[in-house]
Amino acid sequence: MNAVNQLHPDASEEALRAWWMPFTHNRMFKAKPRLIASAKGAYFTLKDGRRLYDCLSGLWCSPLGHSHPRIVEAVKRQLDTLDFAPSFQMGHEPAFELASRITQLAGRPNDRVFFVNSGSESVDTALKIAVAYHRARGEASRTRIIGRERGYHGVGMGGISVGGIAPNRKMFAPLMIPGVDHLPHTYTPAEMAYSVGQPTWGAHLADELERIVALHDASTIAAVIVEPMQGSTGVIVPPKGYLQRLREICTKHGILLIFDEVITGFGRLGMPFGADFFGVQPDLTTFAKAVNNATVPLGGVIARDDIYETFMTGPAHMIEFFHGYTYSAHPLAVAAGLATLDVMADEKLIDKAAALAPVLERALHSLRGEPSVIDIRNIGLAGAIELAPVAGKPGMKAIQVFEKAMDEGLLVRFSGDILAVAPPFISSVAEVESMVEGLRRALRAVPV
Ligand SMILES: Cc1ncc(COP(=O)(O)O)c(C=O)c1O
Repeated sequence: MNAVNQLHPDASEEALRAWWMPFTHNRMFKAKPRLIASAKGAYFTLKDGRRLYDCLSGLWCSPLGHSHPRIVEAVKRQLDTLDFAPSFQMGHEPAFELASRITQLAGRPNDRVFFVNSGSESVDTALKIAVAYHRARGEASRTRIIGRERGYHGVGMGGISVGGIAPNRKMFAPLMIPGVDHLPHTYTPAEMAYSVGQPTWGAHLADELERIVALHDASTIAAVIVEPMQGSTGVIVPPKGYLQRLREICTKHGILLIFDEVITGFGRLGMPFGADFFGVQPDLTTFAKAVNNATVPLGGVIARDDIYETFMTGPAHMIEFFHGYTYSAHPLAVAAGLATLDVMADEKLIDKAAALAPVLERALHSLRGEPSVIDIRNIGLAGAIELAPVAGKPGMKAIQVFEKAMDEGLLVRFSGDILAVAPPFISSVAEVESMVEGLRRALRAVPV
């Protein structure tokens, strides 16, 4: 009997053959599958009956817990009323309402929202808006985009080009969009290992943008895109003053600042957006994931009002922005979004995330000194534990701890040798603390 059948009698390797899984070790997975059967609240139930605490809120996207009854009800109701509505030359009212609610939550009530279906699409949309905006205002030479090393902006052609993760780029090098440059990342362990919250060292790294501007000339640069906190590459927290400095330099040179808030948007840092948490306003904001608790794919871009108005200058019978998706503002996704924002407000869940943040901070940093741990980082209700790699086998240590954590009833996320956690906002203090104790046991169970 092969490993698949041992674990799941009805999941033969043949049954798992057809799905080429994303960002997965396909062969390892299919030899020893981990099949999720259901989810409720902060827990997944696997097909073999094990119950796992959802340490990363899905993939950073389900902070309200799974199958929240009010979201489920809203989607079911929508399905009975209007299953699909074209968004090209037609509209349905709830989409306008959701756009307005999002701008209010962001504290930018005059701004505009363009809906898409994923974080990747939100990034490519924001890049298009940036370049087209400069063109519309007569500065068509501003086409260059500046990303950042270790940035993750999804997997679209724009997103991988401005992103800073080598494995996501090297296979597709000839497809990259031209004219991209990168800021250095800010992670400097010698200066900031075990920082509690924001590191105090490193604001000066933003001045690298001045060097890039001097190299290319501001007249060629459309936008800078950064995640306020780099989530996917391991909760890399911006040094104090860094984002403020980036903002100043962008403003000085007429460069748009794009915050990719696909992870930080909708409460992860205990404030509605990362922009609120860090006190820095971008010109364009991308979002996805938690906007509707990931119930139905949804993302979008918030654009400053005057950026939108810049497009609204030609003859009114002309389409102003040649961009959009069949599923932009899909009624089911919008219904889930409205219900999510209602639940967040009624149950004060962003405040709850803020209240849990110090609990997570204290608990996580208590892992300092445990086997293999070489750094711990945290901000808001998110954190990462960096592990010393197994010699010659990068990534292996994290896989081992991940598997031991599953034995402890925890589903954590790993990338490289970094473990990331971002618990659901609905978690109790005891759940957050026992997650960290489970991680401690998992770390101790793996050979150094
Ligand atoms: C900052 C950021 N941008 C974009 C994306 C891509 O989102 P999606 O996987 O929905 O395309 C992610 C996904 O984790 C992300 O963290």
